[in-house]
Amino acid sequence: ALRLVLVAIIGYLWGSLPPGYWMGKILRGRDFDIRNYGSHKTGATNVNRVLGLGPAIIVMILDLSKGILPMLLAVYVPFFYVLGWGPLLAGLAALIGHRHPIFIGFQGGRGVLTGAGSLLFVAPPVSFLIFGIGAVFTISTIALSRYVSLGSLVGCVTVMICGVVFGLLGWLPVPAMLFMIVAPLLVIIFHSDNIERLLAGKERKLGQKEVVAS
Ligand code: G3P
Repeated sequence: ALRLVLVAIIGYLWGSLPPGYWMGKILRGRDFDIRNYGSHKTGATNVNRVLGLGPAIIVMILDLSKGILPMLLAVYVPFFYVLGWGPLLAGLAALIGHRHPIFIGFQGGRGVLTGAGSLLFVAPPVSFLIFGIGAVFTISTIALSRYVSLGSLVGCVTVMICGVVFGLLGWLPVPAMLFMIVAPLLVIIFHSDNIERLLAGKERKLGQKEVVAS
């Protein structure tokens, strides 16, 4: 149990590191807080909207790796694996850290990339396949609708369906299957304001920039 607590704490602290927030500080100065603009989130979508595509790509890579690193620790270091429950906790803790980061007042991003990073390594090689299927559905939805949030939501549902089907086929350990159900569910909940805007026809489309007085 101590090992599970340790892996959860490491995952949460690692997930709490906020690259999107730092990017705002680096590019616009000490007083700039990206959470005052756009969707008020620290994720790559909002960084693209407020700071531009280049910085957003860097944040994308960093947020993805934020999910990968605690998961690698839990999957490949036997001390933290604990019959497969370590990876489940590491991934969920990183996701919660990203959404509620201890270092910046508990307001971060929505966890799509951090969750996707964890998903990739939760049960390789089957999880590579599920990551790929989820990515195809997410990217095609974004390309067709121009709504990043809608793409993320479709990706979440895709991963949940794959998790249940592959889990029932016996291709995934039970904790990994649970991760593929609980993590997307959390990410969907973290999109509650996007869902309201989508339903009201008020969600921002990809490419719609936020004008920031500087
Ligand atoms: O990954 C977050 C994305 O799905 C939506 O971000 O900033 O448009 O709320 P945002």
